[in-house]
Amino acid sequence: MIKPFLFLLPPEKAHYFTLFLLKIILAIPLIGTLYKKRYTIKDDRLKRKVFGLDFENPVGLAAGFDKDGKSFKAMSSLGFGFIEVGTVTPKGQIGNPQPRLFRLPKDQSLINRMGFNNEGVDALVNRLKGGWPDHLIVGGNIGKNKLTPNETAEEDYVICFEALFPYVDYFVVNVSSPNTPGLRDLQDKEPLTKLLNRLQVLNKQKTNSKPILLKIAPDLTNEQLDDIIEIVETTKIEGVIATNTTISRAGLKTNPNTIKSIGNGGLSGRAVRQRSTEVIRYLNERSKGQLTIIGVGGISSPEDAIEKLNAGASLVQIYSGLIFEGPALIKEINKAILTKIPQPSVAQVSNS
Ligand SMILES: Cc1cc2nc3c(=O)[nH]c(=O)nc-3n(C[C@H](O)[C@H](O)[C@H](O)COP(=O)(O)O)c2cc1C
Repeated sequence: MIKPFLFLLPPEKAHYFTLFLLKIILAIPLIGTLYKKRYTIKDDRLKRKVFGLDFENPVGLAAGFDKDGKSFKAMSSLGFGFIEVGTVTPKGQIGNPQPRLFRLPKDQSLINRMGFNNEGVDALVNRLKGGWPDHLIVGGNIGKNKLTPNETAEEDYVICFEALFPYVDYFVVNVSSPNTPGLRDLQDKEPLTKLLNRLQVLNKQKTNSKPILLKIAPDLTNEQLDDIIEIVETTKIEGVIATNTTISRAGLKTNPNTIKSIGNGGLSGRAVRQRSTEVIRYLNERSKGQLTIIGVGGISSPEDAIEKLNAGASLVQIYSGLIFEGPALIKEINKAILTKIPQPSVAQVSNS
């Protein structure tokens, strides 16, 4: 109902205003409870056991929406089965100058060059220490500071990994954002293997090691995707999140001059849907179904989510779809999963 008003605000302001409103609504006892009921769907057939974790349902909030862990409790009231906080870096940083988030309504897409704006890992840890709702799985998406050169980037990932370890259920190594100069070079075979091995050594030293996933760009070639499968196998991480935003501008309906005036950034939403699904399908087929994949990119309807699950994803995440379609999307996806996907038993979908 409030979307027309929100779309009058600049996108970044609309984001913070929406979260502010959501927190107010949830704080009103009766309204808050009714609101949660309206958006949440509970059904044992939606439960999934993936990389050893028990998910209430397979629909999650993608990274970047709640970088600092300020709103994951409120967002969990919208019916998500899991929420990924971050990307967080060791030190806080302000990110790129504004404006840095743009709507492309004709394409139901966004372009962002936020640049890992976040308050730093310690601030996130302090918020997570406050606990989170029962049954909610929380992932920690970690990255490097802009000023850290790639040669020493490993240290940044290690700092975030160690600081967050007691407070998240799984980790995501983000080397695929297009908005931190040079970051995507870390997706190359050698530095990536080294980075993941280093994190795995630390992980295996813990009594309760945690799943580590890798988030990849949709702009990788098939050869690079083959490398990713090999790297996941050799480093024995739990899986892949496919995909982040794209630097491609192909096939957009928005006026090319508008696109040009926006400039650099990652494209998300409907425009990335097809490529993201292709990446999931390719990874699933080439790995003969052995790779655990979280599918994300352009899900704006239940059909889009089902397409990704059928392509080989075990779970899905959304971000841009939430902006264009609103929070009812989460429940609609879960309802459709119940009716359209043959229901495996929890044990059958377990990957580890
Ligand atoms: C404004 C914005 C900020 C984002 N920030 C991050 C981030 O910090 N870390 C990350 O891994 N992905 C980030 N993403 C990418 C999303 O998590 C997701 O992979 C991508 O947007 C594709 O999904 P969607 O089409 O549902 O938005 C961001 C996306 C947007 C739109």
